[in-house]
Amino acid sequence: MNVKRNSNKHIMEVLRIGIAADHGGFELKKHLIAMLKEIGYEVMDFGAHELVAGDDYPDFVIPLARAVAKGEVARGIAICGSGVGASVAANKVPGARAALITDSFSAHQGVEDDDMNIMCLGGRVTGVALAMDLITIFLNARFKGDERFMRRLSKVEALEKVNRSYAGK
Ligand code: RB5
Repeated sequence: MNVKRNSNKHIMEVLRIGIAADHGGFELKKHLIAMLKEIGYEVMDFGAHELVAGDDYPDFVIPLARAVAKGEVARGIAICGSGVGASVAANKVPGARAALITDSFSAHQGVEDDDMNIMCLGGRVTGVALAMDLITIFLNARFKGDERFMRRLSKVEALEKVNRSYAGK
């Protein structure tokens, strides 16, 4: 996997972001898209495009996570009812580094130290105003790239490679 960690390039790319939600995050996603566009972000919506009560978060979160991993969008926001399922699903995609975020410290530290590229939110837990604050912190944070952070991430990437070879890919 080729993870881009060029901070200058990242500043350019971060304007284009992706978002996805199941029924549990549908309402929050709608508000966030409007607010993010208003402040100048290009937002790719990976669905759900309509509210369907029984829909499944992997159907929306996995395409978003793949787009983040391929660099088609700089960062992702994945929402389900609690944010847990979205996080579980996103982290199955090699190159995706997702976490459920409910506090401001983790919103920036997760990027600075761990190069988090997908923030997960609970649509039934986090309100619109707090979600927007957390997203703003997340999008403005940059990976620090210190040797110890790179070393830890290379261990995670090595595991992804082993898992891919188990799967015969
Ligand atoms: C849907 O009802 C709910 O289970 C889902 O949105 C999410 O919270 C899973 O983690």
